[in-house]
Amino acid sequence: MTNQSSSEKPRLAVLGLGHVGLPTALGFAEMGWEVIGADDDASKVAMIRAGQAPFYEPGLDALLSRSLTDGRLTLTHCVEEAVRASTVLFVCVGTPQKDSGEADLSQVEAIARTIARNLNGYKLIVEKSTVPAVTAQWIKKTVARFAKLSATPAGCLTGFDVASNPEFLQEGKAVENIFRPDRIVVGVESERARALLDQLYRPLGCPILFTNVSTAELTKHAANAFLSTKISFINMVADICEAVGADVNQVALGIGLDPRIGRQFLNAGIGFGGYCFPKDLRAFMHLAREHEVDCGLLNEVEKINLRRTEIFLKKIRRVVWVLKGKKIGVLGLAFKGGTDDIRESPALRIVQALLDEGACLQVFDPQAMEASRQEIPPQAGRMEYCSSAYDAAREADVLLVLTEWPEYRELDFIRLRELMEVPVIIDGRNLLDPEVVRASSFEYIDMGRNPIDPHSSRFESSDFGGNGGVEQSASVLESVV
Ligand code: UGA
Repeated sequence: MTNQSSSEKPRLAVLGLGHVGLPTALGFAEMGWEVIGADDDASKVAMIRAGQAPFYEPGLDALLSRSLTDGRLTLTHCVEEAVRASTVLFVCVGTPQKDSGEADLSQVEAIARTIARNLNGYKLIVEKSTVPAVTAQWIKKTVARFAKLSATPAGCLTGFDVASNPEFLQEGKAVENIFRPDRIVVGVESERARALLDQLYRPLGCPILFTNVSTAELTKHAANAFLSTKISFINMVADICEAVGADVNQVALGIGLDPRIGRQFLNAGIGFGGYCFPKDLRAFMHLAREHEVDCGLLNEVEKINLRRTEIFLKKIRRVVWVLKGKKIGVLGLAFKGGTDDIRESPALRIVQALLDEGACLQVFDPQAMEASRQEIPPQAGRMEYCSSAYDAAREADVLLVLTEWPEYRELDFIRLRELMEVPVIIDGRNLLDPEVVRASSFEYIDMGRNPIDPHSSRFESSDFGGNGGVEQSASVLESVV
């Protein structure tokens, strides 16, 4: 195989077919490029080749079947073969975290060595995995050392370039994000690299920001750290709202309508999780500390996030008092709606804490049951995986909403109430419509949209679970608007 297709369009290889790599490979194939997807996990490759994505991502299976039928996507578990056959190599391997919070770059290093040993012409090596600034320099050194290439006086190496092209896609929206990105950030060191990446991304019609390589790497860290900060900020505001009888959703709207702030990522709840935010935040703090930059701000962001579990458990205790032996229905296990991913899921943290306190759980998630079973196996009478939300609510003392699956809004709340022992819902994601739920005679408790302490003198006149504070803040907001 040569590394150019007959039409002289560069052939692309995507190395690593996980949550970033697979959508990337399919996106480029759909845009008309010839793509080789490679992953050294042969069973994963076999699954994808059979037309099945190894994880749940809306729209991905359809895209996969089209790419396989068109023949634009080929798959291999031989990474070497993919490197030799392609010009542009997207590195999409995992960068998990070490105990120190530092990113574990062993997979990136291994790929760099593989590339070095298989250089058979010019290669553009593009980092897409989230990596700390300076990783590109390490890739460059590693490839150079192992390929026995020599640096030019300007410090640039012949035979290959390294670029950084961080990915901003969100799980659950990957397909949408691939074809309609807000922006593309590309860090390059040569005109050739810039031209190649411009050729790949120009058709998307979005702004493309060309920077140097470290700037692109840092942009990704800063984006995730900033979004995490927004979430922790609004969670802190939610706690204050609860104390003074304000409505955090309306505060979020009131500040979010200011374009300098923006409404997105101001949804209060049980905190952020997933493979990216918690890990990237720690890696960013690690990088800051390494360079003696004060990262106290980010430290607080993480602390606020970790405290969400205990704050939520307190709400449950206020309802059921003693947790031991209580039957608790749980809606949601994934770290957010739209995915089957449970990595660092705040929902699972709460589930584990409840199990530790002796509660009996009936759990349901539309996609994440299989993954959760591997993490927390079923236990008769203690941890039951249910076939529906209604099944999870059966005879429960309280029902918790832990993941923002939109379908939970469409539940038949009257049916739910009839199934439950005690009709109380605690909504850890502010997902449900309080009016709809209360109209079905539920006691409804959420995150910062209502006062929850019935004994507080501040709320003597409003009934527990009522929305006096909400109405007050809503009318003030309306009069201002
Ligand atoms: C995040 C970023 O949003 C992507 O831009 C980035 O590419 C990706 O990480 C990555 O680094 O690969 P993702 O982890 O898929 O994407 O999930 P988000 O949608 O960002 O949600 C992260 C967590 O924050 C979830 O647990 C979610 O429930 C929580 N969240 C989000 C809130 O609690 N409140 C909000 O307002 C928004």
